[in-house]
Amino acid sequence: MSLDAVFGVPPAPLCLVPPGAAQFSPLVPGSRALEELEEPLGSAVVLAPPGTIERQYTLARFIRVLRGPLVALAPKDKGGSRIAKELREFGCEVEEEARQHHRICRVSAPANAVGLEHAIRAGAPRFDEGLGLWTQPGVFSWNRIDPGSALLLEQLPPMAGVGADLGGGIGVLARKILSSEAVRELHLLDLDSRAVACARRNLPDVRVRFHWADLRQFAGIPVNLDFVVTNPPFHDGGAEDHDLGRAFLAQAAYLLRAGGVCWVVANRHLPYEELLRSVFLRVNLRAENGAFKIFEAHR
Ligand SMILES: C[S@@+](CC[C@H](N)C(=O)[O-])C[C@H]1O[C@@H](n2cnc3c(N)ncnc32)[C@H](O)[C@@H]1O
Repeated sequence: MSLDAVFGVPPAPLCLVPPGAAQFSPLVPGSRALEELEEPLGSAVVLAPPGTIERQYTLARFIRVLRGPLVALAPKDKGGSRIAKELREFGCEVEEEARQHHRICRVSAPANAVGLEHAIRAGAPRFDEGLGLWTQPGVFSWNRIDPGSALLLEQLPPMAGVGADLGGGIGVLARKILSSEAVRELHLLDLDSRAVACARRNLPDVRVRFHWADLRQFAGIPVNLDFVVTNPPFHDGGAEDHDLGRAFLAQAAYLLRAGGVCWVVANRHLPYEELLRSVFLRVNLRAENGAFKIFEAHR
C-alpha cells in the first residue's frame, strides 16, 4: 500500500486530506522528516510554505516520489500565486483554482520531471561561512543574524547554572550562552525540527539538551531554572500573534526559580512590557534602539 502524505495543516474547506496521511511538516512535532521520504507516494496535500527556496525544496521532495495526485495550495500573497509556475517548471501539468484568497494547484506525477535535484540542493541544510553555523532555508533568519538577536547578543552577560533558550532556532544565542563555563546545562527548545537539527550540529556540547516541541504544550524542561534567554516568536502560521510571545514570557517566568533571570529581546511595537512587569518581580530595560528593546527580568 502506498503512502498518503500531508505537509502542514491545509484549511479544511479548501482540500481533503486523506485520513491517516503522514505529516511531513518540520513545524509539527513528531512528524516524519521530508529528507527521509523515499517510498512511493500515493497522494500528497501540501500547504506550501511562503519562502521561495523552502517551497520549491518541499514541492521537489514530494514530486520526486509521487505516484498519484498532489494538491499544493497557499494564500495568494504568501507564495500561492507562484506555485503553478513552479510546478510547471518541474514538468507538471497544472490545474489551478482560486478560492478564499488561496491558489490551489492540482497535478499528477510528471512523466519527465526536471529540476528536482537542483531545488533539493538549493533548499538543503548547509554550513554558512558568514554565520559560522549550519542553517537551512526556511528556518528563522536562516542567512543572517536577526537584528534583535544581535542586540541581545551585545547585551547578554555570562550566564551561570541551568537554563533555557526558548525558541532557540539554530543556536545563535545558545552559542554565546555556552561560552560561559559557569553554564552547567542548557535546554534549547524550538518548534522547527530543521532548526533543532542545525542547532545539534552547531552546538556539539554535552551540556545542551535539545527539544523539538511547541513550548505551549511541553513539560520536558525542568523548573527552578537559573536563567532563560529568549527572542520570542510573534508569528504563528504566518500571522502576527502576540499571544504566542506572551505564552513564551509566561512560560519563562514559570520555569525560573525565585531570583532567576530572564533576558528577552522584543520588537518595540510588541505589547510585552506590561506582561513582563506582571509576572516578574523586577524588570529593567537594558538597551533599546529604533526597532528593539532588551529587558532583564528577575523572578
Ligand atoms: C525570533 S526566533 C529566534 C530564534 C533564535 N533564538 C535566534 O535568536 O536567532 C523564534 C523561534 O521560535 C520558534 N518558535 C515559534 N513558535 C514556537 C513554539 N510554539 N514553540 C517553540 N518554538 C517556537 C521559531 O521556530 C523560531 O526559531
